[in-house]
Amino acid sequence: MGSGTVISEGLMDQMIRIIKEGGEIILSARHIGETVTAKEGKGNFVTAYDKKVQAFLFERLGELLPEAVFAGEEEESHPDVKIGYAFIIDPIDGTMNFMKGYRRSAISVGLLKEGVPCAGIVYNPYAGEVFSAIRGKGAFLNGNRIHVADEGLSEQLVLFGTSPYDQELYERTFRICYALFQKCPDIRRSGSAAIDLCDVACGRAGLYFELMLSPWDYAAGCLILAEAGGKAVTQEGKELTFDQKNSVVAGSILTVKEALSCMK
Ligand code: IPD
Ligand code: CA
Ligand code: CA
Ligand code: CA
Repeated sequence: MGSGTVISEGLMDQMIRIIKEGGEIILSARHIGETVTAKEGKGNFVTAYDKKVQAFLFERLGELLPEAVFAGEEEESHPDVKIGYAFIIDPIDGTMNFMKGYRRSAISVGLLKEGVPCAGIVYNPYAGEVFSAIRGKGAFLNGNRIHVADEGLSEQLVLFGTSPYDQELYERTFRICYALFQKCPDIRRSGSAAIDLCDVACGRAGLYFELMLSPWDYAAGCLILAEAGGKAVTQEGKELTFDQKNSVVAGSILTVKEALSCMK
């Protein structure tokens, strides 16, 4: 693909087909517990299936876009994602859910061009839901256009992540939850940042926040949210970057403004 070329719908369809095939690995997984390895930090694990899905996606998406570099959660090397095309991949977002049979996990694939997201796909194989977006072309759920909700926090569910691997953030996380809980009807914690971002993008929830995420958790979901009329920023209200960890506050223009005022 030459420089300056936008992602075509044909390429998007091919990427979705591959990611759905990757979802079959998740759905057909057996004896997951026997394949678990601990990573650094509390409640942080990887299974053989995370690695298998990632290897599958690296290979198949690499055939589609040979000039792209790959950054994946279960990959040791960290390529420069600011140059050319870069896939940012979370093979299973929601590994703890996957291990526990909680049936709420997703494959998250973001594609950057010169460091800027140009395509994003989040696939929840349990629900059969594909969220997708090409920059400038809107956001879709299984091919149907989606949009963030219009109402403010007083009418909307608030989603959050616990930053489980960063214990020093627990207290602040729950302080913010308490402040937001007083402004909204109720709060939810799902265990998949990528799905949470998409649930906000399609208006099921009004806001999602988490104080520490990695680019593979949000690269795809943030583009889908932006194309659905929403936005995602750091807790300081700054633009997200894709080469380092960030806090993420995601919602409509209105709910992000309301939420940031609870985070000072
Ligand atoms: C995690 C999930 C979880 C979020 C964590 C993430 P993983 O991703 O998105 O909801 O709270 O911060 O790291 O490790 O299951 O891919
Ligand atoms: Ca993740
Ligand atoms: Ca993961
Ligand atoms: Ca993980």
